[in-house]
Amino acid sequence: MGSGTWCLQKRDSFRSDSLSGNENVPETGCLSIIVLGASGDLAKKKTFPALFNLYCQGFLPPDEVHIFGYARTKISDDDLRNRIRGYLVNDRSASPSEDVSKFLQLIQYVSGSYDGAEGFQLLDKEITKHEISKSSQEGSSRRLFYLALPPSVYPSVCRMIRKYCMNKSDLGGWTRIVVEKPFGKDLDSAEQLSSQIGELFDEPQIYRIDHYLGKELVQNLVINV
Ligand SMILES: NC(=O)c1ccc[n+]([C@@H]2O[C@H](COP(=O)([O-])OP(=O)(O)OC[C@H]3O[C@@H](n4cnc5c(N)ncnc54)[C@H](OP(=O)(O)O)[C@@H]3O)[C@@H](O)[C@H]2O)c1
Repeated sequence: MGSGTWCLQKRDSFRSDSLSGNENVPETGCLSIIVLGASGDLAKKKTFPALFNLYCQGFLPPDEVHIFGYARTKISDDDLRNRIRGYLVNDRSASPSEDVSKFLQLIQYVSGSYDGAEGFQLLDKEITKHEISKSSQEGSSRRLFYLALPPSVYPSVCRMIRKYCMNKSDLGGWTRIVVEKPFGKDLDSAEQLSSQIGELFDEPQIYRIDHYLGKELVQNLVINV
């Protein structure tokens, strides 16, 4: 497991950090993308639209990929789809509505808490059901958890994922988590958060992103023509 300190390391390629122990095993299993905090603002305005863009560009083949939304709010699959539908079409008048409908059908919602076994056991059951339906060999499937949540719940959510929702073995499959900034409110809290997550996952399994990185820098650029 990680030391808990920040770690910069080169990722050789998208496909070479499967942690399978056998780097020659090809990735053939299905991919489940789980958006935790799916009822929230980031999920509906950024995460699902970003996934939709990837879908439209052919990076999320519908026969391999399934998307799960998870949060405490008690809503149905269709309620979640209706919440995000408007954000998929807003800037994308070029996207045929057929694409939107097909994308939304890939999304399923599971409700549960961020610190209780029950919700995460149910989530694992639904992911496994999907993997079996795709005839994915156990251990070959890929599980990507995107935490669209306040950092205060990252530690408990990561503990629950580690305990109940990991990909089951090592046939080229993997489990990864994506966390969004802010990672805490100052250096101390960021290091504490990093250490808590680092106790549960190896560094190559953790992806930290800031989708506004460089935004102010770019806005301040003066272009002379
Ligand atoms: N919104 C953005 O555009 C944006 C941009 C950059 C970074 N971020 C960061 O991304 C994270 C999520 O942002 P957001 O705007 O989506 O936040 P949000 O809407 O307040 O929260 C997302 C979901 O998390 C759950 N939640 C909220 N507060 C909670 C709490 N105290 N304890 C447990 N669960 C809670 C709620 O779901 P349930 O009640 O249904 O479980 C909520 O729908 C935040 O850290 C934010 O700073 C957001």
